Amino acid sequence: MQKVAVITGAASGIGKGLAERFAGEGMRVVLADVAEEPLVKLAADLKAKGATVLAVRTDVSNAAEVENLAARTLEAFDAVHILCNNAGVVCSRPVWEHTVADWEWVLGVNLWGVIHGIRAFVPDMLAQGNACHIVNTASILGLVGGSGEGIYKVSKHGVVALSETLADELAQKGANIQVHVLCPGWVRTGILDAARNRPDALQNPAEKKQPQETVIGDSRNTRAEMEAGLSPAEVAEHVYKAIQNGTFYIHTHPEHKAWIRERMERILE
Ligand SMILES: NC(=O)c1ccc[n+]([C@@H]2O[C@H](COP(=O)([O-])OP(=O)(O)OC[C@H]3O[C@@H](n4cnc5c(N)ncnc54)[C@H](O)[C@@H]3O)[C@@H](O)[C@H]2O)c1
Repeated sequence: MQKVAVITGAASGIGKGLAERFAGEGMRVVLADVAEEPLVKLAADLKAKGATVLAVRTDVSNAAEVENLAARTLEAFDAVHILCNNAGVVCSRPVWEHTVADWEWVLGVNLWGVIHGIRAFVPDMLAQGNACHIVNTASILGLVGGSGEGIYKVSKHGVVALSETLADELAQKGANIQVHVLCPGWVRTGILDAARNRPDALQNPAEKKQPQETVIGDSRNTRAEMEAGLSPAEVAEHVYKAIQNGTFYIHTHPEHKAWIRERMERILE
């Protein structure tokens, strides 16, 4: 049977890389994104290459919209095999300066998006009994501490904890569902322009607005560091292999393992 892969945040960056990789493997792909125009364009491009595609405009921070995504997937294909909870955004300033709107926006997409994905899809995955995979996109910043990107780190540490719990609970139940947590370093995507998709209701007042450009860490190097990162296709290859090999933690940048070790040693000391 042709597998069915659902990808959130599919219209750009890592999500687009995953969609192209899975479609290239002959899977049917369900593309979900809050940005309608690039979503429709990607769906058309993949269809033109012969893929079977369903595009569903979805705001992952909204429970009802993610439930609708699950319903539309089953209605169209009667099955789901891979769920990539991938949509994510970032905004950066000292943690005490963040507004409530900043917290609601970033946690809404990065953490609640994954929570809604799990709530909406896992019961159907359990009921159908097919071999399934859930890939939650965290970040290397879900595994380390330090200054900068406070809300983002809180959200990504949450995604790692949620994925670890989900994996153990599904294993205890003997479920035919494997969980994976993707923890990349820099990838060449649109993440630094994440504010393009920030909803009107969660905009900051003018005096609290972000600078035009999201700056992470050292302002001079952010964009250059990202441009030196992996391509979305390379990350998709890591994910594809992890699914085949049953790897839980997906490290795309092995050089960052030293940061994780350092943090763990500090905790234990
Ligand atoms: N780029 C990196 O260096 C990097 C590193 C580690 C982790 N990540 C993570 O990878 C994931 C994908 O990000 P990316 O780097 O490809 O960025 P990207 O901006 O290229 O893609 C993110 C996609 O998510 C969509 N999106 C935003 N808000 C949404 C919402 N409410 N509902 C549904 N879709 C929404 C955007 O429209 C966009 O298409 C994110 O979770 C991000 O945190 C990225």
